[in-house]
Amino acid sequence: MATQLRVHYTHLVTYLGYFNEQDPESIITRILAACLSIRRMTCSARISEALAVNARLFRAPGRVNIIGEHTDYNDGLVLPTNTALYTWLTISPRMDRTVQVTSSNLGDMQSFSLDDIRRSEYPGWLDYLKGVAALIESQGIRLRGAEISVDGEIPIGGGLSSSASLELAAATALLEISGATMQPQQLASLCQQAEQLYAGVNCGIMDQYTVACCQRGEAILLDCRSLDATSVAIPAEISLIVTDSGVKHRLPDGSYNDRADECQKALELIKKIEPDVHSLRDVSMTMLHKAQDSMDSRLFRRARHVVKEIDRVNSAFAALKSNNIEKLGALVSDSHASLRDDFEVSCDEVERLVEIADACDGALGSRMVGGGFGGCVLSVVHTDRVDEIVQQLGSDYGEITGEIPWIHIVLPTDPAAEVDTQ
Ligand code: GLA
Repeated sequence: MATQLRVHYTHLVTYLGYFNEQDPESIITRILAACLSIRRMTCSARISEALAVNARLFRAPGRVNIIGEHTDYNDGLVLPTNTALYTWLTISPRMDRTVQVTSSNLGDMQSFSLDDIRRSEYPGWLDYLKGVAALIESQGIRLRGAEISVDGEIPIGGGLSSSASLELAAATALLEISGATMQPQQLASLCQQAEQLYAGVNCGIMDQYTVACCQRGEAILLDCRSLDATSVAIPAEISLIVTDSGVKHRLPDGSYNDRADECQKALELIKKIEPDVHSLRDVSMTMLHKAQDSMDSRLFRRARHVVKEIDRVNSAFAALKSNNIEKLGALVSDSHASLRDDFEVSCDEVERLVEIADACDGALGSRMVGGGFGGCVLSVVHTDRVDEIVQQLGSDYGEITGEIPWIHIVLPTDPAAEVDTQ
């Protein structure tokens, strides 16, 4: 009986997210929201709130990486999309140069002065905003002080880029109220730098680029070296489901940077034999095998993951283009095995969830998504099996943890932008 109730609830949460995006005003959306009495507000309710306090409203989506994990900071390829889970941000200018920020999620209010932006010794959520403000000003743009309120729907530490979404929402809003603009690609690079310098995460460009540039309804094959992006449609026969393992990863904790360092070390050793390579992107399996004796097994496996994952991204792009959904699913599963065994960024809870997802009838492939060490699992599934799979994921993983997992059906949406309140 308890299981039945949980399943029911999971369904409602999932469908509320879906209908909210399709038609926020529909009866079904309102009934679902009322039934659940959860805090997720419709877009029009957010517009009303912003108008009531004379503020402008911005939103930035989350990103879901279909395949290509830990390849971006190795100059490699990635294949991500956006999803309709947003960081919502209201903003109104101040007369002085103070930026005061309220976080509804964290029930916290903090501020900083644009005339004295300092990095914190232990980075917290405000540092993402400090970072983007400092870097925008370093481009010669003078920002106005602001009252900001942030409300995020993206699970923090879930591998869906809640930080890049916050950075892009804040950067877009601060620029707009200061009468300045930047190209989305330039803004993505600036936000990436902000995360590196102010949050201390040596991240690649994937998250910020996707949140800033990926358009509604598409995924992009992004070359993280040239920043060339090619869009591709996601076939209607497949849906992407994201389930939170409930284990929060925190990239500033260091393990992510350790992986980036290990890739760099492996590269240095390969360069001794192949001096023309500039990054792991340039390395083939033949080159890696030639250098194998010069490195320990851990470095070899880290490099092998990156080299093979870049290949998988190319194959996944081809599979998407040719509607070869079985192949796509198999590549997603291979990616997970490599992230678990070679890159060692999975954990027990994520493994259980992947096993549960793999056992679902109609699931094509599942893997951890994002930086790893917890967070969400992405499942590529047959669209006509979504209901049953959501039910099974919810009940089977719920049985293990005793809690209803958060489940989201991916809905590729617009990049970061102001919301039209007129
Ligand atoms: C995090 C980083 C990205 C990328 C992924 C792993 O999300 O911010 O740059 O490296 O991890 O693919």
